[in-house]
Amino acid sequence: MNICVIGTGYVGLVTGVVFSDLGNEVVCVDSDKAKIAKLKRGIPTIYEPGLKEMLQSNIEDQRLSFTTNLGEGVNKSEIIFICVGTPQKNNGETNLSFVESAAREIAGNLREYKIIVNKSTVPVGTGDLVREIIEKNKKYQVDFDVVSNPEFLREGSAIKDCLTPDRIVIGVPNKKVANRFLELYSPLERPMLITDVNSAEIIKYASNSFLATKISFINAIADLCETAGANITDVAKGMGYDSRIGREFLNAGLGYGGSCFPKDVHSLVHTAQKFGIKFSLLENVIQINDQRVDSFVGRIEKRFKKLKDKTIGILGLAFKPDTDDLREAKSIEVIKKLLAKGARVKAYDPVAMESARKILPKVEFCKSSYDAAKGAHALIIITEWREFKLLNLERIKNEMACPVIFDGRNMYDPERKRRLGFEYYSIGRK
Ligand code: UDX
Repeated sequence: MNICVIGTGYVGLVTGVVFSDLGNEVVCVDSDKAKIAKLKRGIPTIYEPGLKEMLQSNIEDQRLSFTTNLGEGVNKSEIIFICVGTPQKNNGETNLSFVESAAREIAGNLREYKIIVNKSTVPVGTGDLVREIIEKNKKYQVDFDVVSNPEFLREGSAIKDCLTPDRIVIGVPNKKVANRFLELYSPLERPMLITDVNSAEIIKYASNSFLATKISFINAIADLCETAGANITDVAKGMGYDSRIGREFLNAGLGYGGSCFPKDVHSLVHTAQKFGIKFSLLENVIQINDQRVDSFVGRIEKRFKKLKDKTIGILGLAFKPDTDDLREAKSIEVIKKLLAKGARVKAYDPVAMESARKILPKVEFCKSSYDAAKGAHALIIITEWREFKLLNLERIKNEMACPVIFDGRNMYDPERKRRLGFEYYSIGRK
């Protein structure tokens, strides 16, 4: 099929590359000239395992192209995916201005029947909004359909998630469009749910908010474990064996970050409010998540009495492993609080340091974990990168001014750390 993807962020770029790899002709559009120039040369603009190889091979095979000309992409394609950013406004509402302007531009270039798809995460009712905008701005009397096909990919495993999704959700206005989508996705051989547009839009927010709820729930239980002298890892394991609960997303720690969960939970609360519903459960989920860093830094402060002039080494900056993304990363919150209390901060991350330099100018960035540990009064684990599990802890201890570890992701076994001579603090464990 001929496909146009508007927006080359995480969702857009991965979607475009994967569709081309499935044998479709794909044109990716973005207004950012520098980004398009890079992508045309086969250079990925984000770090994502497997992306580079797939990008380059599909450009070579001439199934994948990039342009800044939206009209060109629309004209060549039968299905147009809107994958532009949907950031959060100050009041928690989703900012739809990029979706709206994409819809207006599509309308201006509509010369024959097309299927327009919202893949960006958008609140319920956005399908209707896009339809109205196109209807109002189209120059020719042509028909079109609007579909909701939310994306569930996770950063760090985006290609894999796109190729083997747990489910494909397709919100359609009629049977004819449903059949085109069944055909488009049939090579993946994954479960597909055909539903109406509004339901598909809600499925995305409900899923992300439910996962965020799981995280805040286990974090609240972790606090109880800590006070009551229990072990959250065993508690989560014991709960997770119940197939109705499941072990995934029950890792206690500094809370959820990233470009999706914080924004999506706020947005769902806001959408509910618009319909006159107070979603107190999700308000609590947000509140629990917001308190994680404060209580973590509070514990560090309590240990040292004063943080002024203490050197703190940070391991991990990205909002989670296998990505260079720093959006809503807990590292930023923790570091800003430590700096405000007068601490000197050194940090190391395997891939996210380049972007971190711009956001955290007062931090000293290090070449390795050992470098970050050098002279540190405490080492803080913020992102659970695999390489931190494989560290030579004897060497780490020798580098440090004081062998104290605050583990924000429960990466290590407390007993082993203590045997190695560390003063070791983790989340929800004795
Ligand atoms: C998420 C959804 O998983 C994905 O389906 C959706 O399309 C986009 O949002 P992503 O933001 O890439 O994906 O990250 P995810 O792996 O879900 O983790 C989100 C946050 O939750 C991270 O900050 C992570 O550290 C945190 N988390 C996750 C926990 O604190 N505990 C857990 O048990 C799991």
